[in-house]
Amino acid sequence: MTVLRSLLFVPGNRANMLERASGLRPDAFIPDMEDSVPADEKKNARDVTASFLPRLRESGALVVPRVNSLDTGLLADDLAAVVGPDIDGISVGKIDSAADIAQVSGIIEELERSAGVDAGSVMIIPWIESAMAIVNAYEICAASPRVVGVAFGAEDFTNDMAIERTQDGAEVDYPRKVICIAARAAGVLALDTPYFGFRDPDGLRANSLQARRYGFKGKFAIHPAQIDIINEAFSPSPEEVEHARRVVAAFEEAERNGRGSTSLDGQVIDVPVVRRARQLLELAESAPAND
Ligand code: GLV
Ligand code: MG
Repeated sequence: MTVLRSLLFVPGNRANMLERASGLRPDAFIPDMEDSVPADEKKNARDVTASFLPRLRESGALVVPRVNSLDTGLLADDLAAVVGPDIDGISVGKIDSAADIAQVSGIIEELERSAGVDAGSVMIIPWIESAMAIVNAYEICAASPRVVGVAFGAEDFTNDMAIERTQDGAEVDYPRKVICIAARAAGVLALDTPYFGFRDPDGLRANSLQARRYGFKGKFAIHPAQIDIINEAFSPSPEEVEHARRVVAAFEEAERNGRGSTSLDGQVIDVPVVRRARQLLELAESAPAND
């Protein structure tokens, strides 16, 4: 099971920040060549990012650089700079359709061949961040076996919709839920938009827990201080694990007595309830410990 709870953005043109980040341990590093890099730094970001990939990979975290979108004319050169043995995947901004994924995948396929890495091994995490992408969410999620997860970008989405972002986030409630359902239907991970208040740990925690309730499996971090909070929010708590164990034990006991359901603490335990408990235990086992 791929576990992607915390995905740390680092501006791809900032060697000092990449250096510092390489000592951290998010579930994935996202050296960014897209919107955190100014236009006149794009070439520099390519070179700096490429030179840091082996260092980031050594940490054991997945390395998934974010490249510029198809409409920028930068994507092919960005991909050429990073596709190779030092990355696990690439993240692409502003994907609107399955045809966009096919185009990106075609370029990666050629680069895999020339870099001598296994065909199909480079995964893709597309950003769903426009009205059109929300309409096409399922087809994007299911467009290619390379797509292991999809990211929601609230800033670009609200920009595309010409609406304001608010503190309570009501304006992104619907797209967040659509992405979770589309991702689940396609069997890929839904990954939530970054929380920009990097000095607001309580706000981040509440926002991450809400995302988890909707079905997101992880969230992007824009500051090292966000990693632990995100990891914790997307990992089953000790209380949840304990409860799931009791649910499974109660159900197995009922089964031994020839019954298909039982109760625990006044709540009915039947097949879907025990399935959910087993899923939670599986997730708890596969998530790296927070340390
Ligand atoms: C991230 O890319 C966003 O647009 O919010
Ligand atoms: Mg964006």
